[in-house]
Amino acid sequence: DDGRLIDTYGRVATDLRVSLTDRCSLRCGYCMPPEGLDWLPHEQVLSDEELIRLISLAVNELGVEEVRFTGGEPLLRKGLERIIEATTQLTTQTGRTPVTALTTNGVGLDKRARGLARAGLARINVSLDTLDPERFHQITRRDRHRDVLAGLEAAVAAGMQPVKVNAVLLPGMNEDEAVPLVRWALGQGYQLRFIEQMPLDAQGAWQRGQMVTAEDIQRALAEEFELVPTDPRARGASPAQTWTARSKDGLEGTVGIIASVTRPFCGDCDRTRLTADGQIRNCLFARGETDLRAVLREGGDDAELARIWRAAMWGKAAGHGINDTSFIQPDRPMSAIGG
Ligand code: GTP
Ligand code: 5AD
Ligand code: SF4
Repeated sequence: DDGRLIDTYGRVATDLRVSLTDRCSLRCGYCMPPEGLDWLPHEQVLSDEELIRLISLAVNELGVEEVRFTGGEPLLRKGLERIIEATTQLTTQTGRTPVTALTTNGVGLDKRARGLARAGLARINVSLDTLDPERFHQITRRDRHRDVLAGLEAAVAAGMQPVKVNAVLLPGMNEDEAVPLVRWALGQGYQLRFIEQMPLDAQGAWQRGQMVTAEDIQRALAEEFELVPTDPRARGASPAQTWTARSKDGLEGTVGIIASVTRPFCGDCDRTRLTADGQIRNCLFARGETDLRAVLREGGDDAELARIWRAAMWGKAAGHGINDTSFIQPDRPMSAIGG
């Protein structure tokens, strides 16, 4: 045992995903109801100091090489820049600076991008499902399309590279936007990735027959672009399958599809998750969580916290099981777990 986060299937978790809050500035219909959810009470949410302590432990002792901040919406967290800065000051067990990344809805990013870059943020993924402001309003129930576009431009101006855009296509809403979204992204220099809708919504309304699949998306894109698969070795443990897309009128760049449902990639998973309230989750779809916050607040030392974290990962299941008839949706929605 070299101290790393391994499981019984031989996977090693080197990518820590930290949810900084369960709250959000948008209300995407596939994620949460219009009125929002019962947010975590403040005292249950880890403080900046507690978070930094656990991130340091993961990097110093558990072999974590990359730390991604998610939510809810991580920009709602005032201490975000501070937490990123503290993370980039750490050294991984292989002697590197941990890679920091942010997954955000982009609202308010225009004002924060420079500061985030200054804090050392390396990579950013911004969610945007549509090019149409009216549709954006319908999907997210907020009129913030312009803010997100401004946020994306600010991320590029701040030097973040690559800037990825995550899009979920929804039947009867924006499913006709695969090609327009890619044309737009190629023109702007963003790397667009389509995400298959997963059963992680708070309402439990996800239906297998009601999702746009990777195959649907690939078929639509192939009508407009020449698609050449990128070297699969370059993919690593990224959930996205990627292609170089070329249009007849000279646009070119990388596009991706995250086909969690129809082409599961659990066998290559390298993730461990920490929720905003200090629970370790060994998988997005795990049936249980491990309470690290209680141990931390009872004065547990690094050795004890590390032991508990390793034990939590050891029990990781082989896969999410979405395609099994026995599948049960996790008891918390994605906004509470972290995307
Ligand atoms: P990079 O490829 O390294 O940029 O990161 P990423 O794609 O993992 O990050 P991002 O937060 O943008 O995730 C995009 C989407 O991938 C998420 O919204 C999820 O839908 C999906 N995803 C991320 N992690 C997991 C995971 O552990 N399991 C599954 N099934 N899907 C995941
Ligand atoms: N299935 C797939 N993607 C989802 N997202 C939110 N909920 C779901 C879901 N049920 C996406 C957001 C964002 C990313 C973090 O996850 O649109 O791009
Ligand atoms: Fe917020 Fe993301 Fe959920 Fe949309 S999908 S409501 S941006 S947490």
